[in-house]
Amino acid sequence: MTADPMAALINLDDFETAARAVLPGPAFDFIAGGAEDELSLRWNREAYQRRAILYRILVDITDRDLSVIVAGSRMPHPIILAPTAYHLLADPEGEVATARGAAAAAAVLTVSTNATIPLEEVAAAAPGAELWFQLYAHRDRATTERLLVRACAAGYRAIVVTGDLPVLGRRERDVRNAFALPPGMALANLDDRPDRAQQMPFTWEDIAWVKSVTGRPVVVKGVVHPGDAAPAIEAGADAIWVSNHGGRQIDTAIAPLEALEAIVAASAGAVPIIVDGGIRRGTDILKALALGADAVAVGRPQMWGLAVGGSAGVQRVVELLRDELSTVMALAGCRSLAEISRDLVT
Ligand code: FNR
Repeated sequence: MTADPMAALINLDDFETAARAVLPGPAFDFIAGGAEDELSLRWNREAYQRRAILYRILVDITDRDLSVIVAGSRMPHPIILAPTAYHLLADPEGEVATARGAAAAAAVLTVSTNATIPLEEVAAAAPGAELWFQLYAHRDRATTERLLVRACAAGYRAIVVTGDLPVLGRRERDVRNAFALPPGMALANLDDRPDRAQQMPFTWEDIAWVKSVTGRPVVVKGVVHPGDAAPAIEAGADAIWVSNHGGRQIDTAIAPLEALEAIVAASAGAVPIIVDGGIRRGTDILKALALGADAVAVGRPQMWGLAVGGSAGVQRVVELLRDELSTVMALAGCRSLAEISRDLVT
């Protein structure tokens, strides 16, 4: 029997180090990189590192419940896989492997419009997966509508509309590497060039259109300004996803953890809040939930898991995070996500 090649990888940073060793440089840079000086990329992590945890002792934490319901999806733990493009860069089965890993770890997987495997094949290959579809509006409304109809027909449970990519941010690693999809990889959901996507002007009014076309819960991704909470709720959003796109769009954009509390206050409990950007530890999740998030998402770590171990790597990454969260909840005296209260974080 061969030893588990992932046995030595005991946290998400280990997975990143291992992925760097196996991925071609430009592919690693595409995944790891951020916009311009990569300050937001760094701030996303630092926002978590700056906060400290206060905790309660002598609580009976024998039974702990990590479950939550967001946008109609019942989750046994609050860890969502954020939409990331181009999974064939990391694994020969691409998004199919990710979906199988997500199913094994009982994590919602948000499949990107810019996936390298057609959305129907991803869904068919992982019947146990809870899948959401992430929409980049296409310049042509009929094409956008076709994508949405396809996602519904394939069983995707919710639609995530990404609002923070009206144009692509300037990622200088990719510029220096002249990064392009390697031969044999394409945007499998689109028959058009990637740089043409997202050229249809897409606004708050279109959120209602997405709901009417799909009849599915709609999540608005990319909110950092508290002033965008009310338009999202008025437009009928079923959840707000606080994100700066992993620091890949506006450099020096506020870290999502720093933006979170004001958005939670502005939305006043009307809709659940998801947050992503820089989450690498169970303690990070505890901090995000203490500051008012209902669930969290991770982008890059799923790509590291995929590159290192395929579907098993994705599964392991989620399970490591989940187990770390369970441990810190026990240590902090929390029996449920609802008990992770504001007073537990500085
Ligand atoms: C992304 N992200 C992203 N978001 C989206 O809505 N659609 C997409 O296709 C992509 N593609 C993508 C590719 C890669 C390689 C990365 C790293 C990110 C953003 C993603 O959903 C998420 O917001 C961030 O990745 C969260 O930050 P962390 O967890 O990577 O720090």
